Amino acid sequence: FTHQGIPYPVTMCTSETFQALDTFEARSDDIVLASYPKCGSNWLLHIVKFPVLECGDPEKYQSRPLHNLFCKLTVCIFKRMKQFSSPRILATHLHYDKLPGSIFENNAKILVLFRNPKDTAVSFFHFHNDVPDIPSYGSWDEFFRQFMKGQVSWGSYFDFAINWNKHIDDANVKFILYEDLKENLTSGVKQIAEFLGFSLTEEQIETISTRSTFQAMRAKSQETHGAVGRFLFRKGKIALVSGISSEVGDWKNLFRETQSQAMDEKFQECGSGYSPFPIHRA
Ligand code: A3P
Repeated sequence: FTHQGIPYPVTMCTSETFQALDTFEARSDDIVLASYPKCGSNWLLHIVKFPVLECGDPEKYQSRPLHNLFCKLTVCIFKRMKQFSSPRILATHLHYDKLPGSIFENNAKILVLFRNPKDTAVSFFHFHNDVPDIPSYGSWDEFFRQFMKGQVSWGSYFDFAINWNKHIDDANVKFILYEDLKENLTSGVKQIAEFLGFSLTEEQIETISTRSTFQAMRAKSQETHGAVGRFLFRKGKIALVSGISSEVGDWKNLFRETQSQAMDEKFQECGSGYSPFPIHRA
């Protein structure tokens, strides 16, 4: 399904979805999680739901299972969402300008998660080819070409970045990098909780961090995400950046030198300030 030039998975978006989004009524205490696919959206959701559910309001947690709290903004049954009590978590892969206006009118808080585009592309490629029932690609080279043109589900990573980056300084918006979370999860959890207005103890922050590591989440993936879990928690690696990490970015296993250069050039072409992702970490 294509809407305004962007391809979407038909299982998640139809013309009815976009019509429903136009009239969606956001609340001021909604929490929006925005990310391009494979940037770690399930990770961020997991971190956010702990402060909201467990630490922020343990009583509500008892009576509120996740399916009454969280919804993918494009997939949800909008009527049912009206009945959700606050706070609601709305996860989305949509560009800023495709979100319902009421999110901004009501100043809902928005967390925007980014990841190095090279690791994102590799993760996306594997996701397409590993998960049954979604279209797969014949080769990495074919996927890379489509990714660079933005002819993949949810459109171009680069357009998504340009679109969101215009709002990096908005008061109700906070940008987070996957790589920063990976480097220092405790600090990331603390910043996220503060932005959302939860005052957590050091102990609570430690608990959330311990439960949100890649290993901890992967170990429970079958329980939390069913059969698709093992595809959602594949490797959890980050780019090798001197002085920042000793883990090798997964992208190096697939990118040819020319492809790496082409993506670097795309960064340059977009000009400085186009992306919240620091160029030296790409
Ligand atoms: P890889 O495929 O590179 O392993 P999303 O949730 O947006 O679909 O993103 C999935 C990517 O986030 C996968 O990347 C997955 O391993 C990674 N991920 C999920 N949970 C993580 C965690 N707790 N720590 C680090 N990476 C995580």
